[in-house]
Amino acid sequence: MYYSDDVVEEVRSRNDIVDVISGYVKLQRKGSSYFGLCPFHNEKSPSFSVSPSKQMYYCFGCGAGGNVFTFLMEYENYTFPEALKTLADRAGVALPETDDSAEARRQRDRKSEVLKVNKLAARFYYYQLRAPQGAKAMEYLKGRQLSDETMQKFGLGYASQYSDVLYKYLKQQKVSEELMRESGLFNYSERQGMYDKFWNRVIFPIMDANGRVIGFGGRVMGDGKPKYLNSPETIVFDKSRNLYGLHVARSARKKYMLVCEGYMDVISMHQAGFTNAVASLGTALTSQHALLLKRYTDEVILTYDSDEAGVRAALRAIPLLREAGVATKVLHMDPYKDPDEFIKARGQEAFQERIDQAENSFLFEISILQKSYDMKDPTSKTRFHQAAAAKIAEFEQELERENYIEAVADRFQISFEGLRRMVMNQLMQGVSVPKAVTAARREQRPEKEDGLRRSERLLLTWLVEYPKLFPLVEAFLRPEDFSDEMYCQVASMLYEQLRSGELNPGKIAGAFSEQEEQRKVAQIFNTELAVTGKAEQAKAVRETIGKLVNRVMERKAKEMTAAELTTQERLAAQMEMVEAKKRLEKLKTVHISL
Ligand code: CTP
Ligand code: MN
Repeated sequence: MYYSDDVVEEVRSRNDIVDVISGYVKLQRKGSSYFGLCPFHNEKSPSFSVSPSKQMYYCFGCGAGGNVFTFLMEYENYTFPEALKTLADRAGVALPETDDSAEARRQRDRKSEVLKVNKLAARFYYYQLRAPQGAKAMEYLKGRQLSDETMQKFGLGYASQYSDVLYKYLKQQKVSEELMRESGLFNYSERQGMYDKFWNRVIFPIMDANGRVIGFGGRVMGDGKPKYLNSPETIVFDKSRNLYGLHVARSARKKYMLVCEGYMDVISMHQAGFTNAVASLGTALTSQHALLLKRYTDEVILTYDSDEAGVRAALRAIPLLREAGVATKVLHMDPYKDPDEFIKARGQEAFQERIDQAENSFLFEISILQKSYDMKDPTSKTRFHQAAAAKIAEFEQELERENYIEAVADRFQISFEGLRRMVMNQLMQGVSVPKAVTAARREQRPEKEDGLRRSERLLLTWLVEYPKLFPLVEAFLRPEDFSDEMYCQVASMLYEQLRSGELNPGKIAGAFSEQEEQRKVAQIFNTELAVTGKAEQAKAVRETIGKLVNRVMERKAKEMTAAELTTQERLAAQMEMVEAKKRLEKLKTVHISL
């Protein structure tokens, strides 16, 4: 389904964001914006803002944000076409007929065919487990203390010791070889031709959020290797976008979800009454998983294995969840290995206690960070404090930073005022010391980039709030001077709008198709400045522009020495560098007023 930009823009512009959101959230005017209690996280005082001039919303508490489409998608769990349709109806805009191409139809048909095969296979395995030939598998599962009810709820099955039974069964059901191949349920060899992928294993069918079987996991009964075999990715099975157990957990009506590592952990937890447990499918948690979780909950409790691999997996998952706007806690399983073991040994109540005691993920990160410092050595200890301060400085919102300064000072016995000053210093410099924990999230990006990005966001926010700054900013910075690809695009669109006098940030958010990108645009246009007062702000504007021009100069200087450049290109870089230097000089004397 594809709608032209014009149609989308027409629908957007005919639905005033304040009107639409007022239907869901009680809003009160405060200055140029409206504020209310955020519908996307639990809060007592309003940090959810809706701006009529920007036609965007943004929550200073949880970072939710976007335009009117994003809002419906987040609030109602709508897809983009659904949100578009709703808003078109609301404003009385007729949408053009969608052209459902032959190719799109064919894709859909193939998907439903594969789903049918999966369903046949799941049923087949299910009956095998309950038939005489499944006795050994049944004994194994009973040995793991699974009740009949649990086995039924998760549709557990058995693939017999012969490697052609499913093949024969599907043949008999008139399933084509091509479809069988596409289902991922079969292997192929010269000698045997096509044969069952799963044999002599207990079978865990994997369901999507709507309960359709999309793939399978098979476990050996005992200690053989590999312990698990899984379906490969197919046209209906995307491991990074599905979670085991979600079809049940989504309606568990708890305010948080439990995320663990394994099939057996999910099943054990459900059997013990924790029906809000899910697991990623033998892969690390991805950002898509985080967004999927965000559709159903605002809080996740990680119940990963207590070993080193589990800690590493948690450290990787936390920033992804944070970026998706999911509050995260970490459950301590020790001395047990995983939820399955814990529940077997200590029972449901003890597990509930651990849930209640789960640790805030930020404090968890800091406590892991602390392990790489020698707290008996004053220098090392100071470095730890600096690293913690740098991490706290990453919170965009002042109040949140304050709360974390308090919590970290308290928990790690650091002087509150001392830590606070360190955080302030970090913010002023925009430069952070090495960050062991967030390294994974920022990947290989130099540390300086974070501060730089914040400066760029600030500048873009200012441009929206004070459009009269535009001629000044434009004289010093071009859209391509921004460091991040996405920021360049946003800057370029914003410049265009400011040039034509049609400021419309909501439209810029709409230019990005992914919800996550729209959230980022909202973040860009809602960056808080730590200083107040016109004079101080003007000073900050000057410094920020200076920092960014400086960065351009550095980049050009580096380019000049790059070996692969032609003389011509080197000269061009040199000229640009000289030119940037001039801009820097000029910036010192230019008058800035807000
Ligand atoms: N996994 C996998 N392939 C393997 C091992 C593990 O796909 N060879 C995936 C499975 O999804 C498994 C999860 O990783 O559920 C966690 O692995 P592990 O902790 O080893 O298994 P458990 O689920 O704890 O299973 P069990 O209790 O039966 O050992
Ligand atoms: Mn395990």
